Parts: sequence; C-alpha cells; structure tokens
Amino acid sequence: MVELTLPKNSKISGGKTWNEPEGKGDWREFRVYRWSPDDDENPRVDTYHLNLDECGPMVLDALIKIKNELDSTLTFRRSCREGICGSCAMNIDGTNTLACTRGMSEIKGTVKIYPLPHQPVVKDLVPDLTNFYAQHRSIEPWLQTETTPPPKEWRQSREDREKLDGLYECILCACCSTSCPSYWWNSDRYLGPAALLQAYRWVIDSRDEETGKRLDFLEDPFRLYRCHTILNCAKACPKGLNPAKAIAELKKKTVERRF
Ligand code: SF4
Ligand code: SF4
Ligand code: FES
Repeated sequence: MVELTLPKNSKISGGKTWNEPEGKGDWREFRVYRWSPDDDENPRVDTYHLNLDECGPMVLDALIKIKNELDSTLTFRRSCREGICGSCAMNIDGTNTLACTRGMSEIKGTVKIYPLPHQPVVKDLVPDLTNFYAQHRSIEPWLQTETTPPPKEWRQSREDREKLDGLYECILCACCSTSCPSYWWNSDRYLGPAALLQAYRWVIDSRDEETGKRLDFLEDPFRLYRCHTILNCAKACPKGLNPAKAIAELKKKTVERRF
C-alpha cells in the first residue's frame, strides 16, 4: 500500500476550552480553527462557550465577544459589519459566507468556524488572498476606451446600465472562488468565478472599447475553460450573484466572435 506523508501543519489537534457554561442562559458552543505562524505548533480547534442572551445575533458578534472578553489572540478580518466590505468571509457551519450577515439562529447546535478553504492561512481565520487579488487585477477591472472622453461623463442608456445589474454588486469576498472545486485544484491558472464575474462586467459594459483584448486574454484552456458548471459558486455567494451564469456568457462571447 502507498504511504502518504501529510504536509507540515496539515494535522489538526484538539485545542483549549474556554468559558464552560455556568448558570442559566442560552449557551452555545463555538469551535474555531486556530493556527499561528509564530510558533511551530500544528493547527488546533478551540472550543468557546457564549451565553447568547448577552451577545448580538450574528456570528461576527460572537467572534468579537470572544476576542474582547475571552481570548484576545483570536484573529479574524472584519470592517463594515453589514455585508459591504467582504472582509469577514469565512467557512461557517460548512458554508463559505459572511460572518456579519450569518445569524446564529440559522445554525443548529455547535457553530463551527474555519477560514475560507484551500487558501494559505495567514493566522487563525485570515486567509492569504494575494493570488485572488492578483487575478482580479489581471482582468484589468477599469473602463478602457480609445475614443476621446466626453467633457463630463460617459453616459449609458438605461438598458445598457441594467446589463450591469447582478455584476457590479460583487464585494470580492472570495466565498465563490474558494467553494469552486476547479479553483481548488487549479487556482494558479484558472481565474475562478469572482475574477470571471468581474471580467464579464467589463466585457458587457457598453462604454468599454477593449472587448476584443479582454476576450483574447480569457480565451485560454485554463483561465476561463476550467469552469465545469458545478455551480457551487452561485450557491455560496452571500450577495445572491451568479458567477456561473456570467462565465457561461463569457464562453458564449468567445464562440460567437468566431462567426
Ligand atoms: S460553475 Fe464554474 S466557477 Fe462556479 S463553482 Fe462550478 S466550476 Fe467553479
Ligand atoms: S461573486 Fe459573490 S461570492 Fe463571489 S466574490 Fe463576488 S460577492 Fe463574493
Ligand atoms: S464585516 Fe464587512 S462584509 Fe462582513
């Protein structure tokens, strides 16, 4: 039988338990992934108990309470607390989502919290999204034109503006890309659903004049065509967007221009 050696730091051990329940209250258990680059330890899962009667309703409220009152070493990203900045994306109860918009009442029993999957971890719940952001930059997410700019603004018809609905709302949280099996295995060459949704947003912008160049860049067996329409991305998006549909439209555009 083949023996496999697991990479360093790939085994997760049981961790510490904090704040055992005491007295009356709506007590809930939280199991949270912990790993620090500052020591040689393997990752562990710590268990925290909180009385939800004394906590806000969202998972992010619980994490903030843990950090403020129990364990200041717990590390996670957050900013807006209202689903706008995308920084609190993590894997909660087996699903990639935003901690600030996932209510504790939507989860039964123990709340399990891990970083977004298949990304290097900076610390605890903070993934390293360097590659993800570089891929977003690679699609050149800005208006590109040859025509002399109008004196005030580039205007669009109402119909053309509506074509951007379902695309411009993306907050680059990475929930979709990190739930995509094709991205897990090929994230060095496949752009993933978030970057491709943004690529489509510029391809169909009526004001942009570099559509051909954009499609040339995308028409590649890996960058675009590694999407196998598994649809995890659409299920994961906390903003209700559908990257798989945008990817299908991009594929259609690359085919259409051949005729
Ligand atoms: S539809 Fe494409 S991008 Fe979305 S999860 Fe599936 S393979 Fe990934
Ligand atoms: S498409 Fe949705 S899940 Fe993907 S990065 Fe944008 S907001 Fe996040
Ligand atoms: S804190 Fe900004 S999206 Fe959650």
